[in-house]
Amino acid sequence: MDKYEKIISLSKRRAFIYPSSEIYGGLGGVYDFGPYGVELAKNIKDLWWKEMVQFHENIVGLDSSIFMSSEVWKASGHVESFSDPLMECKVCNSRVRADHILEELGEHADEKMSDEEINKLLKKHKSEIKCPKCGKSDFTPARSFNLLVQSNLGNFAGDWSDNPTYLRAETAQGIYINFKNVVDTTRVKVPFGIAQIGKAFRNEISPRQFIFRKREFEQMEMQYFTHPNDADAEYQSWREKRMRFYTDTLKFKKENLRFKKHDNLVFYASAAEDIEYNFPKLGFKEIEGIHARSDYDLSVHTKRSGVKLEYTDPHTGEKYIPHVVEASSGLDRVFFATLSEFYDEDELGGENRVVLRLPFELAPVKVAVFPLLKNKPELVSRAREIFDKLKFDFMAEFDDSGNIGKRYRRQDEIGTPFCVTVDFETLDDDTVTLRERDTGEQKRVKISELKNFIK
Ligand code: GAP
Repeated sequence: MDKYEKIISLSKRRAFIYPSSEIYGGLGGVYDFGPYGVELAKNIKDLWWKEMVQFHENIVGLDSSIFMSSEVWKASGHVESFSDPLMECKVCNSRVRADHILEELGEHADEKMSDEEINKLLKKHKSEIKCPKCGKSDFTPARSFNLLVQSNLGNFAGDWSDNPTYLRAETAQGIYINFKNVVDTTRVKVPFGIAQIGKAFRNEISPRQFIFRKREFEQMEMQYFTHPNDADAEYQSWREKRMRFYTDTLKFKKENLRFKKHDNLVFYASAAEDIEYNFPKLGFKEIEGIHARSDYDLSVHTKRSGVKLEYTDPHTGEKYIPHVVEASSGLDRVFFATLSEFYDEDELGGENRVVLRLPFELAPVKVAVFPLLKNKPELVSRAREIFDKLKFDFMAEFDDSGNIGKRYRRQDEIGTPFCVTVDFETLDDDTVTLRERDTGEQKRVKISELKNFIK
């Protein structure tokens, strides 16, 4: 097994990620977070929130709805042009993304290209293009396939084809349509940001690469509203700050990260870059997009809604539509990058082990408490007492199953930084063995000092 496969296997074995609806054969592009996955995901989101909202007094949070008026998606351009080029294998009916196939062949294809342009490139490589499933080279021409997921919300007549309600394709639109609410009801002044974490849905043609491309995923997005003259400087500042989130806060190695400039900018953008992570097997792939979006978003919503989404400078009286700098990160991709970054194998005490060297803040469980022997009630009750105290300060776990070595291995695999073992000495002198994950080093620590030591 290569590292990529080992991470997928660990994710299932250790309750990080389960395929959705597994007992019914699964559902393509949809996954569930298991008990440890939900903790890791929450820790990533908490660090992002802390960094964006808590540390910036001019950034406020929002939790807008997944459902929005369909007018939102018409105004934003998603209904008309949020699509990927789809082609179908005539032999096995597999659907593939034509732009991905072209990229693998060294061609450049992006969302601005028309179906004709894509099909011209496909024709050039006709004989090289093989179906990833059946290996045959017989495809339909590529056509644009809209990625918005439709719902029947509020439609009781049964025919929602001409005006469906969509599940949101990005959290950003919920921010733009609340711009006026936030300006009118809080004390924010430009420049300021609105941050949001939440689910997004896209009808991805070929969801793949584990949780890298999902149909239901979560975004951590921040839209920064700035004076038009300051937009370039803010963009530069945010691209640096966002990179530091990965290197300094999440502690990813610098060499596993890079910026990638967008080759072709959408007409309203003045700059756009991705932060890419070097995934095992996949190589460098986007985990976050940073975009200078001009006044496009607030302008299109102003035009369609008829409500002026502008800002009046309280000092100069100048009225303008703020420009937006967006930092849009994908939780699932950052989660996958985190597992990739901290997955390790080594030898400890003559045994091979798998260890997730997660930073303390990211670890799903911070401390595990064990009685040395399960069948000694005095050890079990002392260990429970310690666990019951620690759990108020840390996500803790009590474990008395299997031998101590197995319990350590289990905790190593989920990245628990500390294990505490209660043994017979504990009953005499109120000390426990504290074992550190990365080195396996053990030391005696007084129970009264445990909390501080772990902190
Ligand atoms: N509001 C801007 C926006 O949504 P995007 O580049 O389409 O931009 C932003 O998405 C981030 O969301 C990406 O960098 C990626 O991390 C994540 N993302 C996008 N599509 C995804 C998918 N199908 N599965 C998982 N994450 C996805």
